Amino acid sequence: MLQTAADPTARTRTDPCKITVRGKDGAELVFEVNRNDMLLKAAIEQGIDYPHNCRVGVCGTCKTRLVNGRVSPMVDLALSPLTNEQIEAGFVLACQAKVRTDLVLEAKLGGGAMLPVKTVPARVVRWHKLPGEVIDLRLALETPVPFNAGQYCTIAESGSFTRRSYSYYDTPAADGSGASEIGFLVKRLPGGKFSEWLFAEDRSGVKFWVEGPFGVMGVDDFDRDGLCVAGGTGLSPILSIVGDRLRKSKTAKFTIVFGVRTAKDIFANDRLNALLAEGGDRVRLVTILSHEPAGSSWTGPRGLVTAALDETLGIDYAQTAAFICGNLGMVEAVEKRLIGLGVQADRIHADKFVPSGTP
Ligand code: FES
Repeated sequence: MLQTAADPTARTRTDPCKITVRGKDGAELVFEVNRNDMLLKAAIEQGIDYPHNCRVGVCGTCKTRLVNGRVSPMVDLALSPLTNEQIEAGFVLACQAKVRTDLVLEAKLGGGAMLPVKTVPARVVRWHKLPGEVIDLRLALETPVPFNAGQYCTIAESGSFTRRSYSYYDTPAADGSGASEIGFLVKRLPGGKFSEWLFAEDRSGVKFWVEGPFGVMGVDDFDRDGLCVAGGTGLSPILSIVGDRLRKSKTAKFTIVFGVRTAKDIFANDRLNALLAEGGDRVRLVTILSHEPAGSSWTGPRGLVTAALDETLGIDYAQTAAFICGNLGMVEAVEKRLIGLGVQADRIHADKFVPSGTP
């Protein structure tokens, strides 16, 4: 039967769909989204504590079992982080699922990281070049915004459609109040539009929009010792997580394994030294160099970060929580290595940096 605009039974592209999410503990959450909305985005916009991290189909944190209803996946699930078993069991990625009908879902809600996502104007108050082609970028926010350690936000120069996501390196306020300044470590990406623009000259005073916070990496395993593995500017959320946990736990100890190319590329020494001073014997740093010239005066470990992860670290891998940040290949290699060393899979918290241009 043909439907006309006046037909009260007509379904529009945006009429509401009822979403029922069942948690493992039997709790049930019901909310509505518009048909054709992206499931995760719509949930986050309503302040729902939906598990997520990358929001671009890479990390797998938003995996959700579709019990009833229909979604359109925006990625080929066979190329996603979901295993064949998970796909066969009906799992989808909420960040890549366009809602087509009412849905009944199973997901691990309530990780506790969800803070209201806000979009606020900001301006650059620090643009400082560090070794290793990294910029320490700080923005003053017009309205303070709270965030959790390990989270990230999206920034865009005012008037530009180019957005980039960066993790906060600051320790969030102990009382949960909003930050009026936030800082990031930005690695130069040769040929990257935003990166080349940012590195071309001092951008102090430039206006930005900031949207966030996003991500759930740093919300579990307080009071457990932490092994933190950072590849390059993956150090940013590690600084935030360790700083936060030193204050929230009286006992947890942290080993930071920091991988850079050469001794000349070591950056953020001031922030690392401040953390070491604050933590005393509760924090230690292992810097490992992947491309240090043979015969240099460097006496520390050499190789990829995985080479530093073994029994000689003296870590009780079966009891530790791991936090890994860096590019996708590095994070996956470290995850595999840590599982081989006995770290429990559900204690591995990862932030996989997605290259610029990934849809
Ligand atoms: S895969 Fe969906 S949030 Fe990362």
